[in-house]
Amino acid sequence: MLVYDPLTNPLNQIEWAFGALECIHIASFAVAIGSIAMVDFRLMGLGLKNLRSSDLLRTTTFWTLGGLTTAITSGLLLFSTDPERYSRNEVFRLKLICLVIAIIYNYTVHRMVARRGSAGAGVIAGAMSLLLWVPVIFGGLFYAFT
Ligand code: HEM
Repeated sequence: MLVYDPLTNPLNQIEWAFGALECIHIASFAVAIGSIAMVDFRLMGLGLKNLRSSDLLRTTTFWTLGGLTTAITSGLLLFSTDPERYSRNEVFRLKLICLVIAIIYNYTVHRMVARRGSAGAGVIAGAMSLLLWVPVIFGGLFYAFT
């Protein structure tokens, strides 16, 4: 039977590899959540008021998708360095559950409201989106303390 030994993972063998990948992880989720937050603030009427939310959504779509794809790929690679420890950690598991909920919300309700650009629903949809991403970031930050 083939058993995966994390010690054979290059990310555990090359001294700087884990740190470098973590930098990519951080930069990519900053791009993803940053581009989503731009739409959120527009929806809430707190900035970029000279742009329509539908136009902003179109402009940021590439950055959101690219950022999310890179964050998820780099996250999975980081996870591969010690799958047992990460999967046992409740905060880490909670982060992933929140991530799935935030992504589903982003590509359904959030997108629909941003396309229509309705003011009332926009405030709720934008605030809700920000609220859903916060636990993903804090889950990533605080998992190490649990
Ligand atoms: C947009 C989505 C994501 C966000 C916002 C996010 C957020 C974070 C944050 C804030 C950190 C801590 C960085 C640090 O303190 O240096 C982190 C580390 C990490 N993330 Fe993510 N993450 C995301 C997606 C994922 C995914 C999909 C996975 C894997 C399935 C994952 C696995 C990891 C791992 C393994 C670490 C390293 C933890 C450690 O330092 O040991 N992340 N993430």
